Amino acid sequence: MPKTNRRRFLKSTSTLASATALGVFSSTSIARSPSPNERPRFALIGCGGQGTGDARRALAFGDMVAACDVDSSHSAYVKDIFTKRLGRQGKEASIETIEDYRAIIDRDDIDAIICGTVDHWHVKIAAEALKSGKDVYCEKPLTLTVDEGRIISKVVEETGQILQVGTQQRSDERFLKAVTIAHSGRLGKIKKVTVGLNHNPFSKPLPATNAPKTLNWDRWKGPTEDVPYRFLKNGKDGQKLVRNLGDGSVNASNCHKEFRWWLQYSGGKMTDWGAHHVDIAQWIINQCGPGEGPTTIKPVMVETKVPFDENGNPTLDDRYNAPHRFTVHVQFPNGVLMEITSEGRNGILVEGTKGRIFVNRGTIAGKPIEDLVSNPLSGGWLEDIYGGPVVEHVNNFFDCITSRKKPASDVWTHVASINTCHLSNIAIRLGRQIEWDAAAQTIKGDAKARAMLARDSRKGYEIEI
Ligand SMILES: NC(=O)c1ccc[n+]([C@@H]2O[C@H](COP(=O)([O-])OP(=O)(O)OC[C@H]3O[C@@H](n4cnc5c(N)ncnc54)[C@H](O)[C@@H]3O)[C@@H](O)[C@H]2O)c1
Repeated sequence: MPKTNRRRFLKSTSTLASATALGVFSSTSIARSPSPNERPRFALIGCGGQGTGDARRALAFGDMVAACDVDSSHSAYVKDIFTKRLGRQGKEASIETIEDYRAIIDRDDIDAIICGTVDHWHVKIAAEALKSGKDVYCEKPLTLTVDEGRIISKVVEETGQILQVGTQQRSDERFLKAVTIAHSGRLGKIKKVTVGLNHNPFSKPLPATNAPKTLNWDRWKGPTEDVPYRFLKNGKDGQKLVRNLGDGSVNASNCHKEFRWWLQYSGGKMTDWGAHHVDIAQWIINQCGPGEGPTTIKPVMVETKVPFDENGNPTLDDRYNAPHRFTVHVQFPNGVLMEITSEGRNGILVEGTKGRIFVNRGTIAGKPIEDLVSNPLSGGWLEDIYGGPVVEHVNNFFDCITSRKKPASDVWTHVASINTCHLSNIAIRLGRQIEWDAAAQTIKGDAKARAMLARDSRKGYEIEI
């Protein structure tokens, strides 16, 4: 429950909401900030690439009071660049650097957190922050398992706090147009939706070595297994990595940035990109309400450099282990087939009886899009989606801190779609079809598959609710 007068004051003022509501939509538009004495105070937990970007956008709407990271070089960097940035705007910054996020949870002068940590920490940190009366902007994928979705949904329900998931495609006009066109009936009855996520990279074995002095490796691992830090410098030493995709990274490791290719810490492209595209695709086909869910999930193609054992666990622990290539068929209760695949173009292809459209971050195309010139959508279609102007995603979070309205990416819709990704990974790892019982929220019949719906946390890092 909110516990400070300061928080109640923020909730009762409408100035922030009306000021941000003036924001003209674009995926980068930022509405004007209200006066400084009304600004929420926020902390960034997880000062890596994405968290830093989120916090940079948040500086327009709130005052950042702390930068927390288990790698002190990351929090120091964020403090430095934001202090200079605010200095250039004639503003004084007072950002504390902190290693242990619990020091932030314990403070009651902080209204909100942005959680940009690695995936395996999201739910524990978000749940503790919500329970301490803070609102939370948490990066995607919110959860690592189906069970974590149940836990975090319960905490949001019980606390009534705001939780916005960092799936910013829900605040992007291009994707919202695709949803509106599909729902308008212009595509006819939707039969199939194909979600392209791209291949997972693979790596050579990565040698165990000492973690950098600035990194608290034990705290980075947190709830996951106690394993050695692994690192391989790419390039001059001749040990060039075998990678199918360049993502800008130079070194391979089981830590910063590269954690997403390890199933211990993430779900590979299935959850990294699936959190965005499966989410929009499920919205398009009207399968994001509570209680709804996939019926059967069938792997139709899997190519992996690290084989899985009969329990679905990777058989090698010294290299990237998310399956290199995959195609999964998800048959929804409403008859729509969703194909989730590493093949083809990154994006979403929607096929109906009357037409098809393709949408990704760079384009929206197809005959129904061309037809908009002569037959446009009704005026105000964008405002109809959330009942008001659509603003940039972090902006929406700060609006909701004041208005207490449901954010653009709420826990319910996110859990419904990220569960599809988790279930798809379970089917891939076991190499067989599974069946999801939406009413019971479990997998029918298959004990090994059911065992993969949850994971034990390392002692001392359990999620308490
Ligand atoms: N919304 C998007 O489009 C988008 C894009 C990229 C990444 N992401 C998400 O953002 C998250 C971070 O990704 P990234 O690429 O920035 O990774 P990263 O490795 O660069 O950053 C993660 C940071 O979290 C820190 N960290 C780990 N455990 C912590 C803890 N207990 N307390 C405090 N700090 C901790 C790490 O030291 C690191 O600095 C991931 O969940 C990722 O999926 C979202």
